[in-house]
Amino acid sequence: MSPPYYEQLAEWTEFVPESEIRRLLLTKVKFYFGGGKPGSLPIETFKKILYQIADELEIDGIDILNYGPTSGIASLKETLGKRVEEKDGVTLPKGKDDVLISTGSQQMLYGLLDVLLRPKDVVIMARPSYLGFVVPVTKLGGDVLTVPTDMDGLIPEYVERAIEISQRDLNRTPKAIYVVSDSDNPKGTTLPEKRRKKLFELITQHEILLIEDSAYREIQFSKIPPPIKKYDTENKWVAYLRTSSKEAAVLRLGYSILPEEIMIPMIKDKGYLDLCTSTLNQKILEIYYSKYIDQVLGANLVVYKERRDMMQKTIDDYFPSQGLRTNPTGGFFFWFQMEDGDFDSSKFLQNVAIPNDVLYVPGQAFYPIRGYSISQLDSELHGNRIKTNGMRLSFSFTTPQIISEGMERLGKLLQKET
Ligand SMILES: Cc1ncc(COP(=O)(O)O)c(C=O)c1O
Repeated sequence: MSPPYYEQLAEWTEFVPESEIRRLLLTKVKFYFGGGKPGSLPIETFKKILYQIADELEIDGIDILNYGPTSGIASLKETLGKRVEEKDGVTLPKGKDDVLISTGSQQMLYGLLDVLLRPKDVVIMARPSYLGFVVPVTKLGGDVLTVPTDMDGLIPEYVERAIEISQRDLNRTPKAIYVVSDSDNPKGTTLPEKRRKKLFELITQHEILLIEDSAYREIQFSKIPPPIKKYDTENKWVAYLRTSSKEAAVLRLGYSILPEEIMIPMIKDKGYLDLCTSTLNQKILEIYYSKYIDQVLGANLVVYKERRDMMQKTIDDYFPSQGLRTNPTGGFFFWFQMEDGDFDSSKFLQNVAIPNDVLYVPGQAFYPIRGYSISQLDSELHGNRIKTNGMRLSFSFTTPQIISEGMERLGKLLQKET
C-alpha cells in the first residue's frame, strides 16, 4: 500500500505535464533537431579560465567556494550591467544595483511569476511561446491569454486588442506581457523596431509590466534593433532577462535588469529558492565576460550561421513547398508549419520521425495547457487554442552534414503526408 501523501501531493502535480523538451532530450537519435542546446562553445577559453580560477583558489579559495550574496557578486553585476549599457543602450539608473544574477534565466522567469501573480491574473503572450514560461503561469494560478503571431513575431495590434478584451470580458487589466524579442523560441522571429516601440507605448499607457526575454540577444548573424528595454530609461516598465547559457556556457547563470519595485521581492524570493547562485560559476563567468567574450564569440557565431544556412537550404529543397517556414536571423530555431491544419506533428514525431532517427519538438509543446486566446477574425475572448501542424527545428547542436542528411530525410517523409 502506498503512503497517504502519494494521493495528497500538491494539486498542480495532477495537471502540469512534464516538459516535452526535457522528455525528448532523453530520446537518442542520429538527427537531433530537438532541444535548444548550444553546439558551439568556447571550450579552449574555458580551459584557460579554469586554470586562472585554480590560481585564484590559492588566494581566495574560502570565498570562491562559499555562499555569496543572494543577488549575485558585485563585480559580476558591474561587468554585466556595463555590457548591456554599452552594447544595447540600456539605462541602469542605479548601476550594478539594477542587476540581479540568477541560477539560469529560467529561475528569473519562474521567480517573476511567483512574485507577480495573484490568482487569475492575466498574462499576455505570443501563440506559440517558450514553454518554460507558458506552463509556470498556469502552475502559479495565473490565466494565460495568447495572441496570434506572424513571421515577425508578436503583433502589437493584437496585444492591444487582448488588453481591451481582458478588461471588458474578464474585468482585469493584464498583469504582464511576455515577449522574446530577438530570435524567439520557438519560432525564430525577431521583432521589428516599430513593433518594439509600439509595445513600449502600450505597456506604459496601460501600466503593465513587460517581461522581455532576450536569451538569444548575443546569438545574431546580422544587426538587430535595440531591446525594448532601451526605451525604459527610468527602469520602471520592463523586466529585461538575459542568460549566459547560449553565449558562454551552461553554468546555470542568468542576469536581469529589473525595476526596483520588482528587484526587492525577487531577491526575497530567490533567498528561499536557492540562497545564492554558485559563487564559483559567477567567478568563472566574470572572467569570461570581462576578458574574452568579444574575442571568441565571433567564432561560435560563424558555426551557428553555417548551420542556420544549411537548415534553411534543406527546408527549401526538401520540405513540402506549401508549408511555411520562418526566417531566423539568429538564435537556435526554425519553425515549420504544414499547410494542412489537421496535420499532427506530435503523432508524426512518434510514429514516423523517431523511428526514422529524426527528432524535433512538436509545436503543441509551446501552447498553454489551458487559458484564453484571441483570434485574427473577431474581437471575442476564446478558450485555449492549440495548433498541431507546427514543429520547432533546432539547428544549434548538429553539424551541417547531419543537418543536410537528416532534413532531407524528414522533408521526404513530410512530403508523403501531403
Ligand atoms: C527563450 C528562453 N528563455 C529562457 C531560457 C532559459 O535559459 P537558461 O535557464 O539556461 O538561462 C531558454 C532556454 O532555452 C529560452 O529559450
